[in-house]
Amino acid sequence: MSKHNDTVTQVTVKTLLKRKLDKQKISMLTCYDAAFGAILEKSGIDMILVGDSMGNVVLGYKDTIPVTMEDMIHHTKAVSRACKRAFLVADMPFMSYNISTEQALTNAARLIQEGGAHAVKVEGGTAILPQVKAMIQAGIPVVGHLGLTPQSIHTLGGYKVQGRGEEAQKLLREAKELSDAGVCALVLELIPQALAKEVTEAIKAPTIGIGAGPDTDGQVLVLQDMLGFPSEFSPKFLKKYATLGDTIAAAVARYDQDVKEGSFPAPEHTFQ
Ligand code: KIV
Repeated sequence: MSKHNDTVTQVTVKTLLKRKLDKQKISMLTCYDAAFGAILEKSGIDMILVGDSMGNVVLGYKDTIPVTMEDMIHHTKAVSRACKRAFLVADMPFMSYNISTEQALTNAARLIQEGGAHAVKVEGGTAILPQVKAMIQAGIPVVGHLGLTPQSIHTLGGYKVQGRGEEAQKLLREAKELSDAGVCALVLELIPQALAKEVTEAIKAPTIGIGAGPDTDGQVLVLQDMLGFPSEFSPKFLKKYATLGDTIAAAVARYDQDVKEGSFPAPEHTFQ
């Protein structure tokens, strides 16, 4: 652990590794702006992910493919202004690291230096191992991501559980390769509980599950999904902790009515 300032003890890669050794769970949520970032910070969340899920969640795309480096830097900067204690991870967007190690290093450096992220997250295993090793050697903490990798949605053919049957051994091998390369955490998305447990027990890096059952070292959810914002996306693994979509819609409808019938602003909202 390192002292960020006199009052805040920041979560670092060392904290994450220690949590795994001590069998203490790690909490992670996505976040895309400073307003929510400040709320997350108050709650004691360990890791914040500026996910490229912002493509679906805040930019209105149908998947994560159109998200650009500029989008990622812009939103990572915003979250980093609010981020004091949590370990801040930024997704490297589609094709921003797949072409060469030089491309991966250049773009990862931008997310750290301009965006203010503490680590970058990349999707994939063996195919991107040279890039992962180059970034770690350059001193950039890297989070891996296996299982359902949304940037490969057109190859995977939809949002389906991964790592069943023969695929399980490949996923386990790739998890070991990423951990041996030195990733500081590994996201496991939409895989069977037994496989997530096996991977978690086999590797040094802390595993962070989403739709991977309770045996991973930590859990991550998309913030707006768990807060109950309106969405057609409602997978089995999602627990909704609030119904904010309904709450906001009701507040906006009340305001609309008040304005139209002239009951807002009232005398107490008015300067005489
Ligand atoms: O972009 C994202 O939100 C993610 C999480 C689902 C892990 O990658």
